Amino acid sequence: MSRLEVAGVDVYYGRVHALRELSFVVDEGEIVCLLGNNGAGKSTTMNMLSGLVRPKAGTVSWDGLDLATAKPWTIVSAGLVQVPEGRRIFSTMTVHENLLLGSHTVKDQKAIAGRIDDVYQLMPRLAERRKQQGGTLSGGEQQMLAIGRALVTGPRLLLLDEPSMGLAPLVVKQVMQIISTVNERGTTVLLVEQNARAALKIADRAYVVDTGRTTAEGPAVELARDPRIIEAYLGG
Ligand SMILES: Nc1ncnc2c1ncn2[C@@H]1O[C@H](COP(=O)(O)OP(=O)(O)O)[C@@H](O)[C@H]1O
Ligand SMILES: [Mg+2]
Repeated sequence: MSRLEVAGVDVYYGRVHALRELSFVVDEGEIVCLLGNNGAGKSTTMNMLSGLVRPKAGTVSWDGLDLATAKPWTIVSAGLVQVPEGRRIFSTMTVHENLLLGSHTVKDQKAIAGRIDDVYQLMPRLAERRKQQGGTLSGGEQQMLAIGRALVTGPRLLLLDEPSMGLAPLVVKQVMQIISTVNERGTTVLLVEQNARAALKIADRAYVVDTGRTTAEGPAVELARDPRIIEAYLGG
């Protein structure tokens, strides 16, 4: 079993103390959600796990890897793959070309073709638009493409940074359904969201992150009916 373990992590940007003794775990097979408002430290956490931001204190390990020191490409090759906030797809490249970009760390050509087929099967909208430029897609389709690109990399632990951002409620539902299916097919998921309502519907467990600390945790169903969580994160 490869458990992601974050313990007592501090991250600074100069004088900004972004993460303060942050601790949480994600077990294999789970969907775990980090809930938090804008500026809470969610993206910093993701970038720290991907090796793009380094902790000043604390430990971060996954599957025998020390994520606090491992190189970003080593982390991706080991199967920890992030879908960054704001999607960052390439707008002048086609859908298919964007998916192929997910394969640059993958050596096995057969595996790549199989994964791209799986992505098209999971998200038929992308298959219909495979020759269209990324920039012509709707926001929801761009999010699907960003997830698809990560899937082509072959993740075992998928990090999703606010996939619902800027999407209409119906589209949020579709994206959450896709994430749920990806998880059912065997990929562990760490999801960070401001949209607590949508995220708690698919998560097994969740943590609340407030100014760089985890302030509450529990099974998603329990947090969804906790009066403090309802007031602070579910709009009363
Ligand atoms: N590159 C950076 N330089 C300085 N401060 C940053 C940088 N990135 C984030 N921060 C600060 O760190 C804190 C956490 O930011 P972030 O992780 O982006 O939060 P979230 O993703 O939850 O909105 C905020 O106070 C933010 O202003
Ligand atoms: Mg963020």
